[in-house]
Amino acid sequence: MLFRALSSSLPAFFLLPLSLRGEVTNEAVARATAAIQAAAPRGQADPARPIFHVTSPAQWINDPNGPIYYKGFYHLFYQLHPFSDESGPKYWGHVRSRDLAKWEPLPVALWPSTEAGEAEVWSGCCTINGQGEPMIFYTSIAPGKSAQTHAEQWAAIGDDDLIQWRKFPGNPVLSESLHGGKKIYDWRDPFVFHDKNRTFMVTGGNLNQAKGGQAAVNVYEAENSALTQWKYRGVLFQLPDSAARTAECPNFFKLGDRWVLFVSPYGKVQYFVGDFDAGTCRFEARTRGLLDCGPNFYAPNTMQVPDGRRLVWGWVTGFPGGHGWNGCLSLPRLLTLSRDGQLRQNPAPQLSKLRGKEVEWRNIRLEGVARTLMLPKTNALEIQADIDLKTAESIELGFKSGANDARPVDVTFSGTELKIMDAEAPLSLAKGERTLRLRIFIDRSVLEVFVNGTVCATKIIPTLDASASLEMRTEGGAANAKLIRVWPMKTIW
Ligand code: FRU
Repeated sequence: MLFRALSSSLPAFFLLPLSLRGEVTNEAVARATAAIQAAAPRGQADPARPIFHVTSPAQWINDPNGPIYYKGFYHLFYQLHPFSDESGPKYWGHVRSRDLAKWEPLPVALWPSTEAGEAEVWSGCCTINGQGEPMIFYTSIAPGKSAQTHAEQWAAIGDDDLIQWRKFPGNPVLSESLHGGKKIYDWRDPFVFHDKNRTFMVTGGNLNQAKGGQAAVNVYEAENSALTQWKYRGVLFQLPDSAARTAECPNFFKLGDRWVLFVSPYGKVQYFVGDFDAGTCRFEARTRGLLDCGPNFYAPNTMQVPDGRRLVWGWVTGFPGGHGWNGCLSLPRLLTLSRDGQLRQNPAPQLSKLRGKEVEWRNIRLEGVARTLMLPKTNALEIQADIDLKTAESIELGFKSGANDARPVDVTFSGTELKIMDAEAPLSLAKGERTLRLRIFIDRSVLEVFVNGTVCATKIIPTLDASASLEMRTEGGAANAKLIRVWPMKTIW
């Protein structure tokens, strides 16, 4: 009975009896896999569980880890607590894709090596070392130790499919002794980058726990091509805000001719754009902003793809527990910079492969009272709306499960602010610009909004019915909805 329920919804890997699965090489992974299998029927039956965002077959996930394109596959790992749909001791889950549209779940990649004194495997990155070996760097947390004061950076070596991993025997690869007498708190989340044939790593943390912060990104340089010996090169960048308690999950990479730093400071994720001096190992920021204005986006991680472009995924946070699953990753976003150093984000073009049959409306005049459009009969949708604001002061797009929906999903633009239900973000159009280009993705309980490539917002929403409508209204004048295109979205699995 259980087997039949599982077989309808689970990927092939999760169906094999444990004993027949060559991949399951140890007890820890076997137990984690069994727990995920047991929770999957409930998790996958939940109507709020997204279908076109990456998540685990079941249970809790948080940060995306180690995004890497390698040998024809886009690989994503993620923080996973396999034993419940709430946070707990972390493992690494794994998925891969050939085209960024369809994804395949893979066995648990990293587990805590309890025999080696490890209780959790926290966030990190994946890279290929100078000897061509796939390597994961991650933060290792020991049993009974506080992550604030005790952490080490460990490595694991992978096979060519990035499926089987073994811990590097010489762990830790980086320990606190590298810093001499200097104490770095919340020291974690290694991210490797390259510049001028040199290999560097950044880690997150803060320099003064007592004073409530001094969030700082530290930098290290590899001393051998196997990436097993590292030298501390100091503080790459200290966050200008005294209020930032720490810098989690730093990502540091070149975009065009500038350098970009992402940090997750226990609040909205920040980006800085500026210059990197590989001689002094210091970063000078010239512009800054927020990656996502919504309340439910955190700990993003980036991947460089074969054409040199860079994608980012974040953790969509804030789901309720008790449903057999909890957490997903955002859609992949393509990163670019504007001439004045602002980050631009657009949904990865490959997402269009998930579109079903299009419905389209053109030139709908909007003035005051609502115009209602019936949406395709699904609650997994992409909506593209190009709206000429003309004389309208504000415009509201409301997604409703029925005429009397008490909790419609409202997206409102007032000229200076974008509001998604109760979440607000500053947004103004360039001088003379009157066109609002919205890309809205609704994946059951997840909403992602992209506005003119400049503002993104991620928000958990009440799950719409599969027969929802879109109501549009203006205030203070008339607007023209030049083009509204809507697609039902297919599952990524
Ligand atoms: C960010 C974070 C990381 C840490 C991981 C643990 O959400 O706190 O700093 O490595 O999650 O799961």
